[in-house]
Amino acid sequence: MTYQGVIDRYCHHIELPPNSARITLLEGNTPLIPMPHLGRQLGCDLYVKFEGLNPTGSFKDRGMTVAVSEAAGRKVSSVICASTGNTAASAAAPAARAGLRAIVLIPEGKVASGKLAGAIAYGAEVIQVQGSFDAALSLVLEITQKKPIALVNSINPFRLEGQKTAAFEICDEFGKAPDWLCLPVGNAGNITSYWLGFRQYDRGNPRLLGVQAEGAAPLVLGHPVDSPETIATAIRIGKPARGEQALEAVRESRGKIISVSDREILEAQKILAAEGVWVEPASSAGLAGLVAQIQGGSSEYRNCRVVVVCTGHGMKDPSVITDRFVAKVIPAEYEALRSLLI
Ligand code: F0G
Repeated sequence: MTYQGVIDRYCHHIELPPNSARITLLEGNTPLIPMPHLGRQLGCDLYVKFEGLNPTGSFKDRGMTVAVSEAAGRKVSSVICASTGNTAASAAAPAARAGLRAIVLIPEGKVASGKLAGAIAYGAEVIQVQGSFDAALSLVLEITQKKPIALVNSINPFRLEGQKTAAFEICDEFGKAPDWLCLPVGNAGNITSYWLGFRQYDRGNPRLLGVQAEGAAPLVLGHPVDSPETIATAIRIGKPARGEQALEAVRESRGKIISVSDREILEAQKILAAEGVWVEPASSAGLAGLVAQIQGGSSEYRNCRVVVVCTGHGMKDPSVITDRFVAKVIPAEYEALRSLLI
């Protein structure tokens, strides 16, 4: 099999200027993992679209291959983004391949270690901002309006062009769209892209269940959140750039935007790991939302085909697991091991 990135695989469905470069790490083509055991418990035909298996460990790679290819094609020398971590690593990797300077602005002290390490390893200039993601994004918007630096946050329409390929893949796998798509919502680029993708591909549309963290739920509350807070740092966002579009997508799909607590997010992370799928906390929000809906008495998911999108790998945020774990220690003696185990 010849591996292809999303631009080559879906070239007839992606808008990209003809002079664009082709910068790819063969992103996309992520597995749609059946979850029969959990599905039986929840009363639906359940699958996980595991986007954590993209080259830098998150779904952002799909959009970034397109945005960086476009930027490199028009000969900019630098790309910049604000990020809670995944966008930063995802921008830095293709930028390194294209020989571009990557500048990433992150909220000080609020980025999980696996993401920070990725951005540094790929050679990005990492700048910590004393404020939230929203403050970092404002700075990025201002400097890209004044200086010739390409903005690669999902405000950039080329990000959506790449991101929507996840919807195409799901339709290709099933032959049609699922009944429901459940996914976390932060800056709202992903949910907007999925909706764009499903509508464009014309294989039916799922209903969308967008899930925010309770402490960072501007789209549920109906107003921006000044100091967003959640253990799911990836979606610690109070003023989503594509919030309006996300709400429209949810309305058009006859779906919902709901919020879940950090406790529910961590519980969903555990449930997924118990099925062999380890994702970072934000990535389990989709499942947490589905569980909350079903436990709250909703029958709308019963016997439906449901896809839960898991956006980032668990290794992105190892300390959320290890900080809550104390390993047993024994002397290096057989008797100590035997008496511990038996
Ligand atoms: N899940 C993960 C793991 C994320 O990193 C993000 C966003 C989301 C979900 C939400 O997606 O913003 O399109 O609604 N992360 C961005 C970042 C903000 O900077 O990496 P969204």
